[in-house]
Amino acid sequence: MSVIIQIIQGDITALSVDAIVNAANNTLLGGGGVDGAIHLVAGPELLQECAALQGCDTGDARITGGYKLPAKHVIHTVGPVWQDGRHGEPDLLASAYHRCFEIAHQHNLKSIAFPAVSSGVYGYPMRESVVIALSSAKEAISMYQELERIIFVQFSEAAQQIYLEAASRLGV
Ligand code: APR
Repeated sequence: MSVIIQIIQGDITALSVDAIVNAANNTLLGGGGVDGAIHLVAGPELLQECAALQGCDTGDARITGGYKLPAKHVIHTVGPVWQDGRHGEPDLLASAYHRCFEIAHQHNLKSIAFPAVSSGVYGYPMRESVVIALSSAKEAISMYQELERIIFVQFSEAAQQIYLEAASRLGV
């Protein structure tokens, strides 16, 4: 079955998929941006489960329930804070995406939605982070046969355009 890759503009908390990915921080105790939006919709039980996980390293990921979200699960990942691209940021961001796909595979999840991890507060230039995001999706499709749907959700139309342009360049 060929995998559907979608690039949409919208609010990731509204998606009814097996897992939405949260752009979290190392404490996993919530924050602003997409992290704040996910916790707001999911409700306090999400924070309780996150607190029990006792944090997450940059480049790693953890899975929880979705609670009041339409998504069944949340995969919390921590992307790198952008400095200048010469402090391991590309590898750490790639690792974050790979770990999300690996955890989805371990839980036999078939549909997963990603925000632009690290490209908000953490300052990772979206024209660079999008290449890592889409490349990791291509690699995951070749590794994990159960995948049916990958959605990249952008909050703004400008961000969606960046994703669409990169997707056509990369043949995604
Ligand atoms: N749906 C989809 N995308 C969203 C949403 C949403 N509801 N809210 C924000 N975004 C987008 C932002 O516009 C940005 O493009 O998600 C992308 C990631 O931005 P951030 O949420 O700021 O994440 P990040 O850059 O990885 O910074 C993580 O921010 O919220 C804190 O606790 C979080 O400390 C951590 C840091």
